[in-house]
Amino acid sequence: MTRFICSPGGKITGKIRVPGDKSISHRSIILSSIATGVSRISGFLQGDDSLNTLQAFRQMGVSIARDGDRIEVAGVGLHGLEQPATDLDMGNSGTAMRLLLGLLAGQSFDSRLIGDRSLSLRPMRRVIDPLRLMGAVIESESGGRAPLQVRGGQVLQSITYELPVASAQVKSCLLLAGLYAQGETIVHEPAPTRDHSERMLRGFGCDVASNAGEIRIVGGQRLTACDVDVPADISSAAFFMVAASIAAQSDITLQHVGINPTRTGVIDILRLMGANIELSNRREIGGEPVADIRIRSAVLNGIDIPRHLVPLAIDEFPVLFVAAACASGVTRLSGAEELRVKESDRIQVMADGLRILGIENEARHDGIVIHGGRLRGGEVDARGDHRIAMAFSVAALAASAEIRIDDCTNVNTSFPGFVEIARGAGLRISVDDA
Ligand code: S3P
Repeated sequence: MTRFICSPGGKITGKIRVPGDKSISHRSIILSSIATGVSRISGFLQGDDSLNTLQAFRQMGVSIARDGDRIEVAGVGLHGLEQPATDLDMGNSGTAMRLLLGLLAGQSFDSRLIGDRSLSLRPMRRVIDPLRLMGAVIESESGGRAPLQVRGGQVLQSITYELPVASAQVKSCLLLAGLYAQGETIVHEPAPTRDHSERMLRGFGCDVASNAGEIRIVGGQRLTACDVDVPADISSAAFFMVAASIAAQSDITLQHVGINPTRTGVIDILRLMGANIELSNRREIGGEPVADIRIRSAVLNGIDIPRHLVPLAIDEFPVLFVAAACASGVTRLSGAEELRVKESDRIQVMADGLRILGIENEARHDGIVIHGGRLRGGEVDARGDHRIAMAFSVAALAASAEIRIDDCTNVNTSFPGFVEIARGAGLRISVDDA
């Protein structure tokens, strides 16, 4: 089991490019595989999660060449996937499992999706239920958990569906199933969620309408190969935004970061707390907005996090809680019950760790109240959750003594090379692989 040992202090400086966006990387493999023609992807995230998606499509007969973060996919067309000889292993990735389930529901063959311990505990009914309404035949373990067995050869019908939770994974799952359904599938989302699927489907020549929380797709549309430039992941950049904000004398520039407005809640929240963040060199690449982001040290204040920003910052809360721990005053988060069903129960695991590090807090069913204070050292458990491991590494910058973080192996799911990049930027981190 990998443990991070983080010495206290340090400042964050330099210019770095963090790895490719995880959400966009998954989608680039999925859509290019079912397109007609050869697509080239650059900046692909070489993390375990997106590599599992890549492997799954190879198992379904797609020829995919990889040279580092450059990928070439020979698309097989909407109906060209083949039955995999073995289970499709989604590892730790909820995105991979939920998006692939939608795609597999519309195939002519049977398939089975499996995942690691964490993924096998995560709720899948949110995708199984609407897919069954479309005519999909899916069996799960009790409580709608993986492994998931999909019976192919069903004729899917389009549905109109109100998402019970604001989830881009559920929306994307239904858009993919909708490609294989008869008629027009319509999804209503209760709040805006990341729209990478819609943008990329359009890039592949597919008509997707979105207007005021309603997304529509007509089944049977063909996708045409296209090149995808994956920007750096704002969710990985977020660790350095908080790091540079809380460490004195810091000044870092994060290059080529995706700033899709459905993902920038972390910037808005940090700015409300008083962070010094500047965006420059704004441009649009392959349908996604990108910018360089400069962050300098700042004095942070506790805030009540506006509810509308919650889905737009959903993956960044572990590190935002560290920012709250370093802020003066109280930070309150509510309306974020989804954090309890991520790779770990992110409210409880962060609450436990912050308490060990001397930060007073109260966990709530849908959020947390954090009293800013003085971080001390200690031993915390990341519970196999990549973002929690990285968040506590950042906390060491403001701690009075060493922080040891257990169970950090899964950092490779989203941020391969985190330790090297973090060290280069000024974190005093080492790895114990005992
Ligand atoms: C993702 C959507 C979000 C996010 C996850 C990636 C995606 O999940 O937390 O890391 O790529 O669609 P939900 O759809 O469950 O909110």
